[in-house]
Amino acid sequence: MKDATRATHVGRRPFENHGAVNPPVYHASTILSPTVAAMRANEKIEPGDATTYGVHGTPGTFAFEESVAALEGGFRTRLCSTGLIACTVPLLCYLSTGDHLLLVDSVYGPTRRFCDGLLKRMGIETTYYDPLIGGAIRDLIRPETKVVFTESPGSLTFEVQDIPAIAEEAHRFGCIVMMDNTWASPLYFKPFEHGVDVSIQAVTKYIGGHSDLVMGAVTTTGAAYPALREGWKQMGLNGSPDDVFLAMRGLRSLAVRLPQHWRNGLVLAEWLAGRAEVAEVVHPALPGDPGHSLWQRDFLGASSLFGFVLEPAFSSEAHLSALLDGLELYGMGASWGGYESLLIPRNPPRSVVRWPRPGRAEGQLMRIHVGLEDTDDLIADLDAGFARMRRI
Ligand SMILES: Cc1ncc(COP(=O)(O)O)c(C=O)c1O
Repeated sequence: MKDATRATHVGRRPFENHGAVNPPVYHASTILSPTVAAMRANEKIEPGDATTYGVHGTPGTFAFEESVAALEGGFRTRLCSTGLIACTVPLLCYLSTGDHLLLVDSVYGPTRRFCDGLLKRMGIETTYYDPLIGGAIRDLIRPETKVVFTESPGSLTFEVQDIPAIAEEAHRFGCIVMMDNTWASPLYFKPFEHGVDVSIQAVTKYIGGHSDLVMGAVTTTGAAYPALREGWKQMGLNGSPDDVFLAMRGLRSLAVRLPQHWRNGLVLAEWLAGRAEVAEVVHPALPGDPGHSLWQRDFLGASSLFGFVLEPAFSSEAHLSALLDGLELYGMGASWGGYESLLIPRNPPRSVVRWPRPGRAEGQLMRIHVGLEDTDDLIADLDAGFARMRRI
């Protein structure tokens, strides 16, 4: 079955639900047992395997977990209330005091904050590594290293990681490989075919797709699942039924929306690359980008989140205001993956590899998320913004 078919059919059981096309939404905390025998039988069920307690899930949330697992190509998925929790909880599940974590330097900022904060307080040491490290990750692995955390491409600087090479080395030393796979969504990178053990989706982004929900999903291999299940159960995580309903609605059209995001993103990237105000476009799907060959080898497509660098002459606060304040079609805000376009300046935090890397352009980094608008309109709006910026 192809992904577009899977996305429209997975998780549906109409004839268990009066023929309704979509899984039902249950608002439930208490789940009753009709008899003592049934109650005893329920007590033997592993939380999350059937509807036995509201926190652990209901048919609608199970259907969504099944759908994400099928698209990611993993064994099981568990939901939690934000994408950030989907990053932090697996770290808690696979690491203990005294362990060592290898964390990619281009990682999503709040994941970095968690590792430098709570994990450190718990006696778990983090070493940052260059996203372009590839198989040389082996030189950083110590006897106490338990997890290698990847995110590819990073959501600010878009370096593509050699996940298969990293996974091969990590596995030789018995480490778990985690990946924040939000940029590509489950459609454009298949983490488990490339050696990942635990894949993270901020459902908030492309799966939700409409900027109206926050949710996270963690998917694992069969071998990695028991540790996640225990942590998920012990911490009482869940996905709220109404948000799951919206996320499922988003997932059904993901295979139609994402190619349009990809196309629109490339149109804007190519237009930006030709502009005098732009020193460099940072988009792995553009030929000539340093990550392009790895992206071509491992990815099935590109989403529409990428960067561009303004020429240093246009990097003052006044230039940014002139460009951004008058835009009609681009919002200034974090998060991304919705149907609408966004544009913000960003200064990526780094620990071991400064940004810009050697060979990459100096200047203010802008992060653009290209939505589903007509690209002629998006270009006209940016063109007017650049004209305002030049007048400063
Ligand atoms: C790459 C990446 N992962 C995870 C998250 C966290 O998602 P959420 O906003 O749902 O916590 C974000 C949010 O911006 C992100 O960009």
